[in-house]
Order: sequence, then C-alpha cells, then structure tokens
Amino acid sequence: MDHKISMYLFVSYLAIFTLFFKGFVSSFPSGYNNGYNNGHGYGLTSNLNYRFYDRSCPRLQTIVKSGVWRAFKDDSRIAASLLRLHFHDCFVNGCDGSILLNDSEDFKGEKNARPNRNSVRGFEVIEDIKSDIESSCPLTVSCADIVALAAREAVVLTGGPFWPVPLGRRDSLTASEQAANTNIPSPFEPLENITAKFVTLGLDLKDVVVLSGAHTIGFAQCFVFKHRLFNFKGSGQPDPNLAASSALLSKLKDTCPNVDSSDSKLAALDAASSVKFDNAYYVNLMNNRGLLDSDQTLMTNPTAAALVKSYSENPYLFSKDFAVSMVKMGNIGVMTGSDGVIRAKCGFPG
Ligand code: HEM
Repeated sequence: MDHKISMYLFVSYLAIFTLFFKGFVSSFPSGYNNGYNNGHGYGLTSNLNYRFYDRSCPRLQTIVKSGVWRAFKDDSRIAASLLRLHFHDCFVNGCDGSILLNDSEDFKGEKNARPNRNSVRGFEVIEDIKSDIESSCPLTVSCADIVALAAREAVVLTGGPFWPVPLGRRDSLTASEQAANTNIPSPFEPLENITAKFVTLGLDLKDVVVLSGAHTIGFAQCFVFKHRLFNFKGSGQPDPNLAASSALLSKLKDTCPNVDSSDSKLAALDAASSVKFDNAYYVNLMNNRGLLDSDQTLMTNPTAAALVKSYSENPYLFSKDFAVSMVKMGNIGVMTGSDGVIRAKCGFPG
C-alpha cells in the first residue's frame, strides 16, 4: 500500500479510537483527585474507586442487592425511597451518610429537617444491610457507600439502567439540619432556584432534568401538589397545565380532596407506571401531566424542554444520561482516605 495512504489510515484510526475512548471514559467517570472543593463550590472529582472493597469485602454488592430485593418484595415503593435517600444524603455536605444519623438529646441531625420529616424512607433497610455487611466484613464498608449502592440496585430492580458505582466514601461524624433545610430543592421553588442549588454542588441544568427523571418511580404526598388542584395562585381554578389533562386532574382530586386531612395521602409521581423505571416521566411532561410544579416547570425553560423532548422520544438516551448524572451526584463532597469514619451502625456516629 502507498505509504501516504497507510499513514492516512493510521491517523484516522487513531483519531476515531481517541474520540471513542474519551467518550466512553467520560460517560463513566471514576478515580478523581479529591475535590471536596475546587474553588467553585463543590468539585465532582474524587478518589473513589470501583474496586475499593474487592479484597476487603468481596460479597458487598451481593449483600446490598439481596437486602434491597428483600425489602422490595414487601414494599415495592422502597426502590423509589432508597433512590431519594441517596439524593438527600448527597445534597447535604456531600454523600457522607449524614442523613442516616439519629437525633439524640444533644444532637439534631437531618432526619427531621423539613424536606425529610415524615417523607424520606428506607432507613431500616440500610441499617439491615449494614448489619449483614458487619457480619461479613466488620468496620470496613461506609454507610454512604451502602446508600449509593442501594440506590443503584433500586433503579436496576425497577427496570432502569445499571452503572458501576465508584466506592470508598467515608461517613461523617455529624449532620446538619440547617443545610438540609437550605440545600435540598423544594417543589415550591422556581426552576432557577432549583438549578442554582444543583450548580452550587457542581451539577448543572442537564443534571436537573436528567435526575428529575427519578420521579418516574415513587409517590408524593398530596400537600406538595394540592395547591395545583383547586386554587392555583389564588385563581380559584386548577393549574391550567393540569386542567388540560382532565382525567388526571379528577383522579388527583379524588385522592386529595380539598381538606387538610388528605395532606399525607399519596399519589404516584408518574401515574403511567409508578414502579417502572422508564421514560414515561418525560412523556408525562410533554403532555402536561407532571405531578409537581417543579416537574412541569422544566417545560418553561427552552434548554430543559428540549432535553425533556429528547428523553421522551429516546429511552436509551435517558438511561445512559441518568447513569452518568447519578455517578456525578454520588461524587458530591465525598470524604476519602483517613477523613471521616466507618460507622458500626448507620444511625450512630461512633
Ligand atoms: C429537582 C428537584 C427535586 C424536587 C423539588 C423534588 C421534590 C420531591 C418531592 C416533593 C417528593 C415527594 C415527597 C413527599 O411527598 O413526601 C419527591 C419524591 C421523590 N423524589 Fe424528588 N425532587 C427533586 C429531585 C429528585 C432527584 C434528583 C431524585 C433522585 C435522583 C429524586 C427522587 C425522588 C423519588 C424517587 C421520589 C419518590 C420517593 C418515595 O416514593 O418514597 N428527586 N421529590
């Protein structure tokens, strides 16, 4: 073959290989320098490692998986609850298991912060898994890593994507009720505020859209969306977006009558398929059927709306991007090495 042609082919192959490899690696970030803070708020780089417990606790992933499956057999909602637990852990001083710490006489943790009280679930499941792990590999695996693995298992169990979870997080000795109240987005705040909370932690608008897709499973209590059903913004009418979907609106009014006693009743975040991790959440948004204000409001931002549209049309793209954003979220503010501790019980700091 002509020398010039073979040189040309070699350079082309090299370019294709480089592009492909870069794309693949950046899809599943791992092994980063510890970036609790990179000067722009939180960094999303960390020293986590996929094989962190390969030697010290080889059965870890099997134990977590069977713990999540066991719980799911009795309560299919637990999958959604475990996924949310990881989110609420990571958004408050990083993914450090802080949300699991119990309140005591002289300590107020995050469990009873506004976004968590009578809402976040799954603590017993994590504690049961921890106790199984302690029997096999004592004082080795952090509660924060168990929560990250349980969230992944929950997604897989409901039909969503698998992703390798980088490991090696350490647990905090403390927690912050105040940071939980401030950092965790509220369903009543505008998209700009929600996005700002993500950006402070090193995430971006795309992560807001992708991770909101977690609302393809699970439930919300009536009080978080009831204002949309009867008297939206003082109009005496339902939210016009919801009114466009009259079947859904009347079903929600049945579940959540306009009386205080219905506040803690539950409605599916994705009425189409509440135990199936699919892209129906985005199809719902395209049809004005988002349950929370903070869900439907994604359609008011052109960039977010374009992403919603593409996920509603392409479930594989959603699965792929969800896995990437979950790894990103799981890197928020992690402690590694000799920082923090490995707790013996997830509810107690010692
Ligand atoms: C973007 C901002 C977000 C807001 C404003 C928000 C708000 C909410 C609210 C109000 C509920 C219902 C809680 C209740 O009624 O007790 C809920 C449930 C849920 N959220 Fe979000 N969320 C957001 C993002 C996320 C993210 C990033 C994830 C996970 C990656 C997530 C996962 C879930 C799940 C799975 C449930 C159902 C939990 C269950 O059934 O136990 N959410 N969310």
